[in-house]
Amino acid sequence: MGRKTITIMNYEYILVNDQVTEYVAHIQLNRPKELNALNLQLMQEIKHALGVLDEDDRVRAIVISGNERAFAAGADIKQMAGKTAIDMLNIDQFSTWDAIRRTKKPLVAAVSGFALGGGCELVMQCDMVVASETAQFGQPEINIGVMPGAGGTQRLTRAVGKVRAMEMVLTGRFMSAEEAMAAGLINKIVPVDVYLDEAIAMAKLAASKSPLAVQLAKESVLKAFDTHLQEGLFFERKNFYLLFASEDQKEGMAAFVEKRKPEFKGR
Ligand code: CAA
Repeated sequence: MGRKTITIMNYEYILVNDQVTEYVAHIQLNRPKELNALNLQLMQEIKHALGVLDEDDRVRAIVISGNERAFAAGADIKQMAGKTAIDMLNIDQFSTWDAIRRTKKPLVAAVSGFALGGGCELVMQCDMVVASETAQFGQPEINIGVMPGAGGTQRLTRAVGKVRAMEMVLTGRFMSAEEAMAAGLINKIVPVDVYLDEAIAMAKLAASKSPLAVQLAKESVLKAFDTHLQEGLFFERKNFYLLFASEDQKEGMAAFVEKRKPEFKGR
């Protein structure tokens, strides 16, 4: 598979690679001096870039990373410090996060260093997580007189269970990469010099499958967080049946029978 150039606007706080290799795009948070603190514009830029990449047929999976020192150290405290409750209500920053959650393609987080507050919550918005040995996860909002606001109390609890979530949210203690792995928050830990490559490799693997099947499978797994079992099972079943309308299903099963590699077209 050759490299393909994608056209995307210039952003201030993120970098989006203009080369797509094997259907994988990469968004890098790029406020290194502020440890990638998630200000409103940065979040808008992520939302915009994901919207563009989600519509682009040359992209089938997306990696989101920070840098070696920090994935992201949370929402921008300096930007929030003087706000009133009504300011926060009117700014409605979390509607951006709702849009990010609606991304149809798989999102792989490549995490090194700090993933704190909104940074940890952004990791949890992703579908799979590759971490470097130096990664640290935390919800330290309690140290600054608030609490998680972008899903931390909900997604973290579902990911790691009540007592671990309570400890992180109520005491602000960070979790090491090893703890996060044992708790089920991340998929794998790798040396820091390869964490991004490993995340890209994981994304490429998902991108090598039928994009329609991947999209409906992602939607079905996420449904498990929103509903009870019986409704989730019905939802899954309908998506399973729907895939029999795709050329990719015919191609995938024919390739299995003919003992060859399938060529998925996303149709
Ligand atoms: N917002 C704004 N700026 C931040 C920031 C944040 N969340 N985190 C770090 N920075 C800035 C620091 O102010 C500092 O800037 P200056 O050089 O201008 O002073 C720079 O990044 C480097 O940070 P430190 O000097 O503090 O670096 P350190 O290595 O000593 O400490 C740290 C690293 C432990 C991550 C520390 O920076 C820290 O505790 N950051 C805040 C973490 C936090 O509380 N996150 C939650 C935010 S609230 C939230 O996310 C709400 C939500 O649910 C959406």
